Amino acid sequence: MSILITNIGELTTNVAAGSDACGTLVDAAVLIEGSHIAWVGPADQAAERARRDDASGTRTVVDARGRAVIPGFVDSHSHLVFGGERSAEFAARMAGQPYSAGGIRTTVTATRSATDDELRRRLAGLVTELHAQGTTTIEIKTGYGLTVHDEARLARLAAEVTPEVTYLGAHVVPVEYVHDRAGYVDLVCGPMLAACAPHAKWVDVFCETGAFTADESRRILEAGIAHGLVPRVHGNQLGAGPGVRLAVALGAASVDHCTFLTDEDVAALAASDTVATLLPGVEFSTRHPYPDARRLIDAGATVAIACDCNPGSNFSSSMPLMVALAVREMRMTVPEAIWAATAGGARALRRDDIGVLAMGKRADLVVLGAPSRTYLAYRAGVPQIDSVYKDGVQVG
Ligand code: NIG
Ligand code: FE
Repeated sequence: MSILITNIGELTTNVAAGSDACGTLVDAAVLIEGSHIAWVGPADQAAERARRDDASGTRTVVDARGRAVIPGFVDSHSHLVFGGERSAEFAARMAGQPYSAGGIRTTVTATRSATDDELRRRLAGLVTELHAQGTTTIEIKTGYGLTVHDEARLARLAAEVTPEVTYLGAHVVPVEYVHDRAGYVDLVCGPMLAACAPHAKWVDVFCETGAFTADESRRILEAGIAHGLVPRVHGNQLGAGPGVRLAVALGAASVDHCTFLTDEDVAALAASDTVATLLPGVEFSTRHPYPDARRLIDAGATVAIACDCNPGSNFSSSMPLMVALAVREMRMTVPEAIWAATAGGARALRRDDIGVLAMGKRADLVVLGAPSRTYLAYRAGVPQIDSVYKDGVQVG
């Protein structure tokens, strides 16, 4: 089965061409064979290409009628397996209450009492919602179970919908361990890790005042590494702290939030392979100051943007909204934001088969309902997604 998408007005390939990191082609076409891209080229060669391949089987031709096509969004940070919701906490925050990581415990209670099927149904609904908004790769963290049984359950459920599962037993210290932090860290590094590692690829820790210290975080990440997991870190969300430097020191794939950075943090990121993943939905939903993407990019750091969809700090799953926020509030250009939401997310997940539209890459792409990717920021809040393909199959 193959699909030829032709008459694409503006194609973002992310195959860098000179100063154009987005590798933009005009009047282009993409040929999908099965789950991968077989050919990308000028639309006027598509007919010839189609004739040549026609003998090989069934072909669907999609006429994009001058609209834009971009790689599927890679949302490299989410917390989608949870029970309950916290709209009252959000409303209280909008009435003046500060955001507190303590709210995580509310979701832990609701998650522990939810059945597998309840969690699975909520998760499936969210995955459908993400697909409809152009997201084709999703990273999902545990972190609302915080017992061996519940963390393993969340990791298993997440693994049913994505290969990008992150073990986040170190989200906060649960209530039953507040007087025995060391005991909880032992659990996270021991039996909980052993139960989750078979389902996970990544280990994460919330390294922040009110969550885990630098020493605790290092221990937890090193235990994960010893189990074959690759580290990522929640850091510098609520204030300047040790998260970024710890992430860089351990060769983490990514350090996420990066809202409060010192010059040393920026320099460390710029000199490393660790991606700075910015989560503007969190600042939008907590009224915190936005991270300064320009400062990071100008210093030479690699920047990704992701949603961090979760019931507390941000319950938006919309990558188009994140692109619009990044452009309007974080001093990113439109091409920078599109790149960060696609190829940047792929870098943060250390994947080279996604985030790029080129021969041999996965056929994960979005046909926009607009002539240019700029519309994602230009017409913020207005749906701009026409259709979404993941592994060559239409999912939205
Ligand atoms: O990434 N920072 C820590 N964890 C989540 C928030 C989780 C919650 O409030 O439930 C985050 O923002
Ligand atoms: Fe998060």
